[in-house]
Amino acid sequence: MTDHWQDLDRLHAAAAERSILTLFDDPDRADEFSLRTQHMLFDYAKTNIDRQTRGALLGLVEQANVTAHRDAMFAGEAINETENRAVLHTALRNLDGGAVMVEGQDVMPEVLDTLQRMRGFADEVRGSKITDVVNIGIGGSDLGPAMAVRALSPYHDGPRCHFVSNVDGAHIADTLRGLDAKTTLVIVASKTFTTIETMTNARTARAWMRDHGGDPSQQFAALSSALDKTAEFGIDPARVFGFEDWVGGRYSLWGPIGLSLMIAIGPEAFDSFLRGGQEMDRHFCAAEPAENMPILLALVGIWHNQICGHTTRAVLPYDQRLALLPSYLQQLEMESNGKSVLMSGDDSPRHTGPIVWGAAGTNGQHAFYQLIHQGSRVVPCEFLVAANGHEPELKHHHDLLLTNCLAQSEALMLGRSLEEARGLMRRKGLEGAELERQARHRVFPGNRPSTTLIYPRLDPFTLGQIIALYEHRVFVEGVILGINSFDQWGVELGKELATALQPLVEGAVSPEGKDGSTAGLIDFIQRHRD
Ligand code: F6P
Repeated sequence: MTDHWQDLDRLHAAAAERSILTLFDDPDRADEFSLRTQHMLFDYAKTNIDRQTRGALLGLVEQANVTAHRDAMFAGEAINETENRAVLHTALRNLDGGAVMVEGQDVMPEVLDTLQRMRGFADEVRGSKITDVVNIGIGGSDLGPAMAVRALSPYHDGPRCHFVSNVDGAHIADTLRGLDAKTTLVIVASKTFTTIETMTNARTARAWMRDHGGDPSQQFAALSSALDKTAEFGIDPARVFGFEDWVGGRYSLWGPIGLSLMIAIGPEAFDSFLRGGQEMDRHFCAAEPAENMPILLALVGIWHNQICGHTTRAVLPYDQRLALLPSYLQQLEMESNGKSVLMSGDDSPRHTGPIVWGAAGTNGQHAFYQLIHQGSRVVPCEFLVAANGHEPELKHHHDLLLTNCLAQSEALMLGRSLEEARGLMRRKGLEGAELERQARHRVFPGNRPSTTLIYPRLDPFTLGQIIALYEHRVFVEGVILGINSFDQWGVELGKELATALQPLVEGAVSPEGKDGSTAGLIDFIQRHRD
């Protein structure tokens, strides 16, 4: 059987000899290396992937049996093998897709019942005296709703929403200051209902509400799969929205964890968000690999990260309202695919998930794009932009946003040669050694890859599509790399050690026996605490 990894290594050596620009000698390049669905265009023509390379990348999809793994996920098989769980966040947006079976049982009646209860609750809150909603959660119980509420602010017609995640008291103190405890709803979002940050913040919020004339027995809701623990905390079951363990934290925005989003934009717009996700699921399940957006997005990622060796990936939304998307995708990608051991238990023979980072354009242009254009490392860039904004009266702003986005991907590919830089300097009146010296600083190597995802407007449906697209991309990358994208054992050790260190930091136990560095830090803390 052909080993497509080896093919790709050979193709990489050949690609190093050509520039991305020369691939456009083929007049069909843009058409052939982009993909349109009814609602969006994914352009990967500005990468060094040619037909042969794409063929070998698609060979990896076959080699890893991606479509069989995909079908196993949608069929409710326990593909999260280290936790023996199914992976069915897709069921949460399966509005009219029929039964979804887990261990012989259709889970859809329960999913739709919870969704209906959420709609009722959201309508009630939106029509009540509640002016502010505070979502307390962290990681997947925070990043998704925080990102989406901001992304969809033009559709926000419910109470104001605030998000508290950090155990740093500054976060909750700054958030609660200025809120009226009598008109605030606190939503405690925690799948496990044991996360130390969330439970500490929840208790602080409860005390604040009591002390300021609010009624926690009426103004607290919970989103969790641990119903015994929500009851223990004293939250009325009527305001508890549960979900099953087959919804991973970083994939949970589609269900109860999305309650703050539903309260913000209303149940109808939330449905539209779910339908966007469901449409991407349908595309992912039906389209041939060569025409499949999540698969192609994953293959571009594999090419850049595992084959070309570019360790990071920049996510660059040209949309201020998507400013939190890089952080959201950081968790989605890095918690899912940041592993070193394969499903088989063997060590991975290659690097796994990339380092994901980024910020909204155009701001990033005035911060870190210098490195992206002229730094010694290549950073593959993923641009996202809407053809239209939501402010018709500010169309000229959006024109500038679009032109900047297109200019950046063009500049990354084209670069500027030494000859062109010399010409620039000559026109400025320089000559001789000074011209030569100044020109060198103005050279752009170019030939730097990027992709662009473009859509008509960032509405709830489109946001649903984008999030589902990235979820499936992470899944495909995980299958090709042979890792389990759905556990997160790497977060456990730090949690355990923090618990063990607590009495030492509080001064109740001596740091004797600790490594010298940790003991020294504890000593400094003891000496300098008020
Ligand atoms: O620490 C990692 C993690 O388990 C994430 O996977 C999760 O999204 C987050 O913590 C919050 O967990 P919970 O929703 O159980 O509070």
